[in-house]
Amino acid sequence: MKTRIIIDTDPGVDDALTILLALASPEIQLEALTTAHGNIGIEKTTRNALAVLEFAKASHIPVARGCSLPLVNPLNRSGDAVHGSSGIGKAVLPEPKSGPVEQHAIDYLIERILAEPGEITLFTIGPMTNLALAICKEPRITEALKGLVIMGGAIRSGGNITPQAEFNIHADPHAAHVVFHSGIPITLIPLDVTYKCLLTTADVERLNRIDSPVARFVRDATVPYMKFYKQYEGFEGCALHDPLTLATIIAPELLTIEEHYVDVDISGGISAGKTFADFMKVSKKPANMKVALDVRGREFIELFIERMESLTREI
Ligand code: RIB
Ligand code: CA
Repeated sequence: MKTRIIIDTDPGVDDALTILLALASPEIQLEALTTAHGNIGIEKTTRNALAVLEFAKASHIPVARGCSLPLVNPLNRSGDAVHGSSGIGKAVLPEPKSGPVEQHAIDYLIERILAEPGEITLFTIGPMTNLALAICKEPRITEALKGLVIMGGAIRSGGNITPQAEFNIHADPHAAHVVFHSGIPITLIPLDVTYKCLLTTADVERLNRIDSPVARFVRDATVPYMKFYKQYEGFEGCALHDPLTLATIIAPELLTIEEHYVDVDISGGISAGKTFADFMKVSKKPANMKVALDVRGREFIELFIERMESLTREI
């Protein structure tokens, strides 16, 4: 039985790889994409979502355009350095022929989730503005969602946008606060595990032994991403932050998961957007999410490459 998912996304290089991985995975039925501001502005994240689906011959999958701005903080414009001015690195995809659905992502999420209670698992791999506003507009979705998997946060790890905070949460910490306290069954995939899933240049070269537009897309999309990692992290490769969320469906055995009470700092100071787990249970508050705290990262990367190789035979 396939897991039916909607991905809320800010494509974004690793977002684009997540969309391809979802399409390449028989365990998953990708129902829709909703787009968010984040790595780049909403126009380009929406355009990229449509373009990647058309590239993957999946333009039948609907895309709903989401929020342009975070709830409170100013828009974060730091994504270009990591994802390139297009948002998908050096990859060049034709202008999409199709457009987004009429409905705003907030209303689209509410309609789809309420239409089939207990059926849809939502994956948020960008700032969570759309989901937070959907919860505020229609709280019933918190019981109707089958589950929520979030790429975001840094628990024991340092941050990647400030020393304390991870990009998706920092970009809209108030939205994260609404979601963390919504009661939705959450699995958090933080930097603690995503930084153990490093796609190397050798992996990309191995994939490109196959003469395929998919292999070339992975290579071209990851060029600036890898340059950023080389410059700032001293590593020949890049972290597959967003794709790792799909391991909750396609390879859950690779993840080490614990249940904890997790919160996010919205006080606006130096640790704004910092996520923290109450490991010592000092708050006496019940766990509000499952948190991935370890992963067999190299095995996930091998699985990612295998799935991309299988996708080369379909596109
Ligand atoms: O911190 C990693 C997250 O920030 C990923 O979702 C990546 O796409 C960027 O949005
Ligand atoms: Ca993302």
